[in-house]
Amino acid sequence: MHEKLMKAFSEQINKEYYSAFLYLAMSNWLNQEGLPGAANWNYVQYQEELAHAENLFRYLQYRDIPVTLMNIEKPEDTWTSVLDVFKQVLAHEKTVTASINNLTSVSMEVHDHAARIFLEWYVSEQVEEEANASDLIQKYSMAGDNPNALLMLDEQLAARTFVAPVVPGVGN
Ligand SMILES: [Fe+2]
Ligand SMILES: [Fe+2]
Repeated sequence: MHEKLMKAFSEQINKEYYSAFLYLAMSNWLNQEGLPGAANWNYVQYQEELAHAENLFRYLQYRDIPVTLMNIEKPEDTWTSVLDVFKQVLAHEKTVTASINNLTSVSMEVHDHAARIFLEWYVSEQVEEEANASDLIQKYSMAGDNPNALLMLDEQLAARTFVAPVVPGVGN
């Protein structure tokens, strides 16, 4: 694999682990605020981010490419409201989308067609991540300060469960 692409993969792995850490911090904060459903949603997202990182890692291993692990930045840990949390989720996912798009562009630049095809899953996943965050921002904006609406939303988010994503191209 081209050096430039290897480096971009390593940086993406680091970003996915940072994402996991950020969602874990959000889950912790929401629990402290008495919102166990929203905390659960963010905890499931934490698990998803670990899977995103692990599948990138497994892909490189499958191709026998050395993986460089880097320091994980400390995530922010204070927010003003559950709406504020999900606004940051969307802003964060937009930066991840830009990063995945850049990684894909590098794979095209160095003509690594296999890597480009592998990354398609991640490109589509980012569309889902941004759509989920936008949807939650809309719902929490509508709920405003209405305790009944907030409680109902929290119960909805409590139902989210982790389903390990199946990312094609990582071997068995
Ligand atoms: Fe991710
Ligand atoms: Fe997702």
